[in-house]
Amino acid sequence: SKITLTVIKADIGGYVGHCSVHPELIEEANRVLEENGKGLLEDYVVTHVGDDVNLIMTHRKGVDNPEIHKLAWDTFLSCTQIAKRLKLYGAGQDLLSDSFSGNIKGMGPGVAEMEFEERPSEPLIVFMADKTEPGAWNLPLYKMFADPFNTIGLVIDPKMHQGFKFEVLDTMENKKIVFSCPEELYDLLVFLGASNRYAVKAVYSKSGEPAAVSSTQRMNLMAGRYVGKDDPVLVVRCQSGFPAVGEALEPFANPHLVAGWMRGSHFGPLMPVSCKGATPSRFDGPPRVTALGFQLAGGKLVGPQDMFADVSFDRARQKALEMADYLRQLGPFEPHRLPLDEMEYTTLPQVMEKLKDRFE
Ligand code: 13P
Ligand code: 13P
Ligand code: MG
Ligand code: MG
Ligand code: MG
Repeated sequence: SKITLTVIKADIGGYVGHCSVHPELIEEANRVLEENGKGLLEDYVVTHVGDDVNLIMTHRKGVDNPEIHKLAWDTFLSCTQIAKRLKLYGAGQDLLSDSFSGNIKGMGPGVAEMEFEERPSEPLIVFMADKTEPGAWNLPLYKMFADPFNTIGLVIDPKMHQGFKFEVLDTMENKKIVFSCPEELYDLLVFLGASNRYAVKAVYSKSGEPAAVSSTQRMNLMAGRYVGKDDPVLVVRCQSGFPAVGEALEPFANPHLVAGWMRGSHFGPLMPVSCKGATPSRFDGPPRVTALGFQLAGGKLVGPQDMFADVSFDRARQKALEMADYLRQLGPFEPHRLPLDEMEYTTLPQVMEKLKDRFE
């Protein structure tokens, strides 16, 4: 039977500020998944990037399964109790609803899941980001699945040569469209380049096999107020018709600018880090991405391998820090600070009100 990989994440309280997750929350999440996941989960791994707790789960229930979603929701609720006791920052921050109603989507936590037939060897990577938004995956996904200068497999692997299909979500209108690449590359890029609004939800092989899936909810649109950034996750299947592991990691060797960072209102470089290095502290950043590699074996998560811990990403980190130095000098000026209409909150209305009689 098919296996489903479900990654569900939420910020349920920061330690300290928005920097990291308290070890007691990780312990509690492990405990709840161990106890309540019996007979439901094949396997699970609990981890964190910055202040976001990530539940990586395998099971045979398919996507959008109410039992699996409820398990994640209950886990976060349970952790929130601890976060409240420890008075962690923004305890329960991403849990926007009071009661669970069958599907965790639209309730605050981010969800990325895919169902597939486990191959004879099934390497996959779970990417997790903090201090940024779902559109942060647009550029790396384009490179992984559509750019031959990143992914040589598109040129020399007969199983990849026909290209991939990109499912793109308009996060404002909540509509999606599928582009077939390479035929529609230029159309695709019109949208992917506008990563504040459009986000790649999934990538499929031309025969319809799921290759990648991301979490694309826009929490601030749901909540109608500032509740931090969405801090998205992304799952990528690798090898044998999909990008090699190294091709999936390669886009992160050159940090790109993403929206997020301090107060969700600044552009900054997406810095690839080890799990240990995923504690954004300078100006609450810069934004981070971790990559956990697994080999699936009969539904079991063999791993994780901490992919960005490797020395080959040291220069990317160095470059990201240099970019951060440069951008920070701009202080409250664009293009470090986001344009007015993209900022998560602003004092503009109040300041305008106060000064309105002085505009002539
Ligand atoms: P190995 O010879 O180390 O298995 O490498 C194969 C490969 O294709 C790497 O991309
Ligand atoms: P988080 O979304 O990671 O909680 O970040 C919020 C923030 O305002 C950081 O400065
Ligand atoms: Mg937070
Ligand atoms: Mg976060
Ligand atoms: Mg957040």
